[in-house]
Amino acid sequence: MQKLLTIIIACIGVNAALSTDGGYCKPTLTDYVVKYDDLPWVEGSFNPISPHYYGLSYITFQVDQFDGFIQPASAKQYAMTFGGSGNITIPDSTPKQSFDLHSFSYACNSGVPQPECAISMWGWKESGKVIHRTLNFPRLDPGYEPKDFVMNRTRFGYDWSDLKSVGFSIARGDNGENIYGGLMIDDLSYTIKDESGC
Ligand SMILES: *[C@@H]1O[C@H](CO)[C@@H](O)[C@H](O)[C@H]1NC(C)=O
Ligand SMILES: *[C@@H]1O[C@H](CO)[C@@H](O)[C@H](O)[C@H]1NC(C)=O
Repeated sequence: MQKLLTIIIACIGVNAALSTDGGYCKPTLTDYVVKYDDLPWVEGSFNPISPHYYGLSYITFQVDQFDGFIQPASAKQYAMTFGGSGNITIPDSTPKQSFDLHSFSYACNSGVPQPECAISMWGWKESGKVIHRTLNFPRLDPGYEPKDFVMNRTRFGYDWSDLKSVGFSIARGDNGENIYGGLMIDDLSYTIKDESGC
């Protein structure tokens, strides 16, 4: 009995330490800007992004390296989904986590010339709510030097918070048809929120 009481008191102590005055449990926040340059890359192979890479798992994305066409936002490597669709997600094994998306650099990669590209993005929230946004990447015309082709960058507002997963799918901007290309992502900035102490 004495032991049980001690355990109960110890639990109250832990809860008190985690709570602010309003009884709100503060999650642990960790900020990341992920550049993919620390991942191994072998030419001609499938180069997966390791599971739980800075707290997120990548579905269909792999790590790819600059081939002289579109310049990565930083250094040589970036994340690439060759079919143009994929997900970046909180792993099932860390259910008490979610993330706030801040910004990333992106490009559609289907050679030159390529039509304007529309990137559909979905965000699946912890609450079950699904949000959507479309990004555009401009058409690329022949007659430029490859060094002219750079990624574009975008920011996300407060609505892109408490996410479990984000999904991507690319299409032609003019008629919605298949663009037969890949999607590059670099310098992905986000905050992981961990409520496992709550
Ligand atoms: C991305 O996640 C959504 C929602 O879980 C799912 O419907 C979709 O098939 C996934 N896409 C890929 C490429 O795995
Ligand atoms: C977006 O990408 C295109 C194609 O690489 C480039 O010409 C343009 O300068 C970029 N825009 C910005 C704002 O980076």
